[in-house]
Amino acid sequence: MNKMLCFLLAAVVFTSCLKEGAEVQYKYYEDADFELMSKTLNLPSKAFDYNLVTPGYISRNFFGGNNNQDEATLGRVLFYDKALSKDNKVSCASCHDQKIAFSDSKAFSDGPDGKVTTRNSLALGSVLNFSVYYGDERFGRVPFFWDNSATTVQEQAERTIGNPNEMGMKMSEVVSRINKLDYYQPLFKEAYQTTQITEDKILNAISAFVNAIPAYNTKWDKELDNHFVKRGNTTNLIEYDFGGYNEIQNKGKKIYLKACASCHGETIGAPAETRANNGIAMNYKDGGIGDKSGIEADKALFKVPTLRNIMLTAPYMHDGSIATIDDVLDHYSNGIINHPNLHSKLRSTGGAPVKMNFTNDERAALKEFFATLTDHELLKDERFSDPFKK
Ligand code: HEC
Ligand code: HEC
Repeated sequence: MNKMLCFLLAAVVFTSCLKEGAEVQYKYYEDADFELMSKTLNLPSKAFDYNLVTPGYISRNFFGGNNNQDEATLGRVLFYDKALSKDNKVSCASCHDQKIAFSDSKAFSDGPDGKVTTRNSLALGSVLNFSVYYGDERFGRVPFFWDNSATTVQEQAERTIGNPNEMGMKMSEVVSRINKLDYYQPLFKEAYQTTQITEDKILNAISAFVNAIPAYNTKWDKELDNHFVKRGNTTNLIEYDFGGYNEIQNKGKKIYLKACASCHGETIGAPAETRANNGIAMNYKDGGIGDKSGIEADKALFKVPTLRNIMLTAPYMHDGSIATIDDVLDHYSNGIINHPNLHSKLRSTGGAPVKMNFTNDERAALKEFFATLTDHELLKDERFSDPFKK
């Protein structure tokens, strides 16, 4: 049958149903289930939409990915559930706070039983690195952790849960904890059509949630998209001022593109380098990628982190050793240390560390530019908020 005819027929059937006032109620959670869940949780009666909406300049090039909405809903509850940690006091959200783009304001985060992490928590409001670009570094993708050692959120989550400084739980213990919590039965039923709780399902649900965390609702993305529409691509960004930026923001954009984009990425999506040493010390306690590989040239190399939401995610660097954005600019301005593995992009022709010597105006411009990288929606988006009733 021809498509138009189908459409017309569907419209006629649909309107006549309405006329007869037939009440077709969509059944989602069973009433009893919803009531039970609602004792502990503040969830909508039908799952939020967790499909990742990417700006045009990305979705024209990449597939943004579809999400199972119920799986992500389950993931949201798991993300905020302290029952996932040894002492029942730590959830993923303890170290990844929505208000500050899912980062932590402390250099090292508090884990269970008074333990602290050995690295600075990474912001998660950067799904640009996740859904579209994440994966195995050997294929030019962005892996997880400061030492690029996990290729999926599932792997990352399992290791985080198992880390004694972070959650201190075996996955088998998580399964038995969750089996005892009544609100998980309906959530698993909706997500997986079964109440059988397994380690894989738990990790998949966490992954569905984490991968849905966006960071695109920024002034930067809006302007990038305009640029793309006008010119058919996102190249030559440096030559064109953005119409929606003021003079200072445009100046900051230029400095960023000249001095920082060669590592942190031109569109601040995938980084241009996935690993580097940026000379924050001569002796690193934490050898980063080198500690894993044992290779001398990998010593003190770390993930090149995203600069999305960067005005919110202090303190900075893998060890949280740089307290403020001004201190970061001091570092790149004249504080880069000549570590043997310092990246060539941070060396001048003679090999000495680059001194960017930012003027006060340049610093102010960079900071104004960084402020356009904040996704303000994300910070209060109910879909990613704590669902537990206090
Ligand atoms: C006690 C604090 C703590 C808890 C709890 C915690 N994290 Fe993290 N998270 C961190 C730290 C610290 C890092 C960086 C660790 C590293 O690189 O070695 C990190 C890194 C990550 C990353 C990697 C991001 C990137 O860009 O590479 C993801 C994803 C993540 N955490 C998600 C989670 C999830 C999901 C949970 C719950 C299952 C969780 N975290 C629980 C502190 C924590
Ligand atoms: C040679 C590559 C390279 C260049 C060029 C570079 N960075 Fe970095 N940047 C890194 C690496 C690697 C790290 C992480 C280092 C660590 O944690 O030890 C980092 C970390 C940062 C952080 C901390 C992010 C966080 O979440 O903690 C900020 C902010 C930052 N850089 C800003 C800049 C700015 C601004 C410029 C330009 C003026 C710049 N970077 C140029 C490689 C680079």
